[in-house]
Amino acid sequence: MERVFLIGFMCSGKTTLGRLLAERAGCRFIDLDEYIVKQQGKSVNAIFAECGEEGFRNIERDALHEVAESAEESVVIATGGGTPCFFDNMEYINANGKSVYLYSSQEELLDRLERYSASRPLLKGKNREELREYVSAALSQRACFYNKASVLFDVGALMNRRDVEDALCRLRRLLHM
Ligand code: S3P
Repeated sequence: MERVFLIGFMCSGKTTLGRLLAERAGCRFIDLDEYIVKQQGKSVNAIFAECGEEGFRNIERDALHEVAESAEESVVIATGGGTPCFFDNMEYINANGKSVYLYSSQEELLDRLERYSASRPLLKGKNREELREYVSAALSQRACFYNKASVLFDVGALMNRRDVEDALCRLRRLLHM
């Protein structure tokens, strides 16, 4: 199996689907944010507060290389929402495995982002209107990076267990996993 990198906006299901995908395929799962949190001994929020976004992006790029270089080929890696959009990370990802863009519409993302914004420094404290503005601007900036993925997957709603199972089933079929 080729190394699989899941990319996409915050709350697009990278961690949820990645973990299940790896579990069903019997291979290892690595979540880049979790790797960073463990390595740095602090939350993503704390890293942003102490080192700024620039500091976080440097740590993130190094972590991406460490993870890809240390992991066997048979692995599913969930990247952070911004990972493909900095440095030459997207080229690096494509040179080291199969990239899969987990696409969700802006409205679907907003529904999920509202629930999970507190742990994400770029979203913290924003109400729905502010979230909408942020997501719209960020998505148009990031689309050109996400669209470099070798596979596009429309995640769909992903609001409950059944949505997750359905998306997982379709993703496994698409990736032959
Ligand atoms: C970020 C996404 C987060 C995390 C950080 C920055 C982004 O990961 O890396 O808060 O810039 O989109 P998730 O996509 O797993 O939320």
